[in-house]
Amino acid sequence: MAEKSIRKALIPVAGFGTRLLPATKAQPKEMLPVVDTPAVQYVVEEALNSGVESLLFVTGRGKQAIENYFDYSVELEKELKDRGKLDLLQEVREVGDLIHIFYVRQKRQKGLGDAIWYGRQFIGDAPFAVLLADDIIDARIPCLAQMAEVYREFPGIVLAVEQVPRERVDQLGIIKGRKVKDRVFAVEDLVEKPDPAEAPSDLAIVGRYILTPSIFDSIEKTTPGKGGEIQLTDAMKNLIGRENVYAYQFEGTLYGVGDKLGFLKANIAYALKREDLGPPIREFIRECLDG
Ligand code: G1P
Repeated sequence: MAEKSIRKALIPVAGFGTRLLPATKAQPKEMLPVVDTPAVQYVVEEALNSGVESLLFVTGRGKQAIENYFDYSVELEKELKDRGKLDLLQEVREVGDLIHIFYVRQKRQKGLGDAIWYGRQFIGDAPFAVLLADDIIDARIPCLAQMAEVYREFPGIVLAVEQVPRERVDQLGIIKGRKVKDRVFAVEDLVEKPDPAEAPSDLAIVGRYILTPSIFDSIEKTTPGKGGEIQLTDAMKNLIGRENVYAYQFEGTLYGVGDKLGFLKANIAYALKREDLGPPIREFIRECLDG
């Protein structure tokens, strides 16, 4: 019987973060804070809260800060302990203790599909999740946990999707699907970043996937696509007909923190939700708008 739970995840973090330059010239985009917490931590917590037990970061040049972040910092912890402020590191410590984190380095940036391929030995023969750190999702039930539920009923590849304005379809992977249940579609076709005139729908793939190990063979057979890169979207498309592929319209709010507007929106939204920062920020925004 097919494995029903998702215990392993990949988080590709090798990208340059050009859409956030100059902030990302000398630091990973995944380490930029949303309020006081690096973006990547929100995504790792989502994995953890969705049942993932071990995860692999596919990293690249200049991304060592991510490894340092999830590692113990003996000197800093001693200093904070002496000052009675160790609680400031509590959340990172908990995540680091609860989830096993591994790292592999993508040698050259040849696309998302290629990055995923680096996870083949770590994953082995079970279904797994991919989370893109550019997408932070604020949801009552973590997005990946919602998808794992869908996977139990519809085993196969499960992609998270959301409806986007037509003018944005050329920046995203787009699906063609047939509704099989509320929020669930059987995927009949996938196109990476189509021309708005040629897009099969306005349902776009967001950075959460449940994949089956057959994806690795498919990636090997996938030739460079959009932007000359090995596209995960193309590798999934090549499996349609041999694997069941589903899309799931998740419940929650997506913040695309890989670009400046999404990054700013996430900071405002998460600050407003905080007990300590929410009221003064609300007040400040009011002042700015009235001024
Ligand atoms: C990638 C995928 C795309 C997907 C997007 C979601 O694109 O290739 O299909 O819609 O992530 O964030 P990228 O943002 O890496 O260009």
